[in-house]
Amino acid sequence: SFEPRIAPSILSADIAYLARDLERISHADLIHVDVMDGHFTGNLTFGPNVVAACKRVTDIPLDVHMMVSNPDETIDWYLDAGADIITVHAEASTHLHRTVSHIKERGAQAGVVLNPATPVGALEDILADLDMVLVMSVNPGFGGQRFIEGTYAKIERLVSLCERAGAHPRIEVDGGISAGNIERIAAAGADTFVAGSAVYGAADLNAEIDRMRALAKA
Ligand code: DX5
Ligand code: ZN
Repeated sequence: SFEPRIAPSILSADIAYLARDLERISHADLIHVDVMDGHFTGNLTFGPNVVAACKRVTDIPLDVHMMVSNPDETIDWYLDAGADIITVHAEASTHLHRTVSHIKERGAQAGVVLNPATPVGALEDILADLDMVLVMSVNPGFGGQRFIEGTYAKIERLVSLCERAGAHPRIEVDGGISAGNIERIAAAGADTFVAGSAVYGAADLNAEIDRMRALAKA
């Protein structure tokens, strides 16, 4: 199994002070960047210029979560901007195999995201090609939502599917994660944890990142 990684989401940062808010999470393993197009989700956030801006001020790998309807047409913008990991939604990419191959050919890591209602079986034929699977534990669009309880069992089903396929992707979970539930999410089989409001809402952001990582290890 993998060492746990904490990926604070800059959706919860003060974007007017982005450089400062990146400095405040220097203990992060990944920086999670939520790209929303106002169409796939009812919110609109960061374009490739924001990814490039992050790249200028941090060496921490950028984990770019593409919540867009046309990932096949837009992922190159984010790869050009310096994305280290790109995750695309299974619900949005018509040619997932081609998209994943393209991301890897361009030297980045590739992941596929599942919305809460999308079954893990949707990944059966692509699993061996993936660096990561991202399981949404909220309906995407906004920070600060409540963790959907059915996600624990879903992670376990994904772990079984990976074992049967002999595949070893990282398993990331996104939405409603805090120090209060990260142990149980890790026990289900996840190793990469996105946290927006829990990290940015803490008094000492780096201390909270370290605390969450330690809990995930326990
Ligand atoms: C939700 C985003 C998440 C969000 C998580 O659509 O994909 O990455 O930032 O925020 P919290 O941790 O506050 O649920
Ligand atoms: Zn996200």
